[in-house]
Amino acid sequence: MSFIDQIKEKAKADRKRIVLPEYMDHRTWEAAEQIAKEGIADVILLASPAQVEEYGKGADLTGITVIDPATDPNRQKYIDKFVELRAKKGVTPEIADEQMKKDYMYYACLMCKCGDADGAVSGACHSTGNTIRPALQLLKTRPGVKSVSGFFIVDVPNCTYGENGQFLFADCAVNTDFDSAKLAEIAGLSAASFQAFIGAEPKVAMLSYSTKGSAKHDDVTKVADAVKIANETYPQYQIDGELQLDAALDPTVAALKAPGSKVAGHANTLIFPSLEAGNIGYKLVQRLAKADAYGPVLQGLSMPVNDLSRGCSAADIVGVVALTAVQAQQV
Ligand code: ACO
Repeated sequence: MSFIDQIKEKAKADRKRIVLPEYMDHRTWEAAEQIAKEGIADVILLASPAQVEEYGKGADLTGITVIDPATDPNRQKYIDKFVELRAKKGVTPEIADEQMKKDYMYYACLMCKCGDADGAVSGACHSTGNTIRPALQLLKTRPGVKSVSGFFIVDVPNCTYGENGQFLFADCAVNTDFDSAKLAEIAGLSAASFQAFIGAEPKVAMLSYSTKGSAKHDDVTKVADAVKIANETYPQYQIDGELQLDAALDPTVAALKAPGSKVAGHANTLIFPSLEAGNIGYKLVQRLAKADAYGPVLQGLSMPVNDLSRGCSAADIVGVVALTAVQAQQV
């Protein structure tokens, strides 16, 4: 069974309520129909009757809950919660009301925050920044986590590296500034995500253009320092670096460049030293190796919210909803 089919089965076993705020995108309606038909999640679509008429015409709404934010009896509760959370940032009831009207992602996050939904998925027609900002502002990180980061599960066909060709790549989506402490936290969160989604022992490589001091530069020191912090903070995981990608993946190269490392040659969780490297890296593997790449999946939030690529298909939305539902099972 493929990775995503396994995730769908897990999602079905304990159904969660997932909100889709992008009523204006036809792929959202197609995905909602499929999610309801397959029983992957209890899907909630945010749309007014006019929006249903305009964008969802012909859609089979069986098993889909449609909520009109303008007439929803919970609206005032969400305004109050928004103000409670963001008054210090200048949010008044008027601003909250306007923001929720303009951007249904705020509405979706407030539904999660108030316990009326278990997760949200958006981004088919909104940028990553606009998709995740409401979640960062309203849901915040879970206790003990400083930064949210974004990973991809990358499934490479006919590949013996990693976990039979399955990998987690991070951070590919969120943080534009990295210091050693942030890199270390991404390593720890990613190890836990790998275990949760792939069900195997994570072997975490902190990547660089240097292996174990073969090059000297502040960028190399940053990764080497992150390895020290990660090993102190997460002694339960195998984390090593700094490693070049070939040493991380290939046992023959590892034996030459990083002898004695338990991770080198066997890495399945790849932590990139910058957002450029992570974002370009997963796209290279996706395009050139024809790998499936699922994500970006956000880790570290108090409740699951996930972003879609604007080039996504309805089937991709179904997959990300299933991933989100499985994350919601773990909250
Ligand atoms: N973890 C937790 N909280 C965060 C994080 C983080 N990584 N980043 C920002 N925040 C919080 C801030 O503390 C702030 O909270 P506050 O308002 O309560 O004080 C709030 O989020 C807004 O933060 P800003 O600093 O104003 O940041 P901004 O909203 O401008 O941007 C964002 C945050 C959207 C994550 C930004 O870093 C970003 O755009 N990242 C890159 C996204 C991207 O384009 N990725 C590549 C494409 S994705 C792909 O190809 C798959």
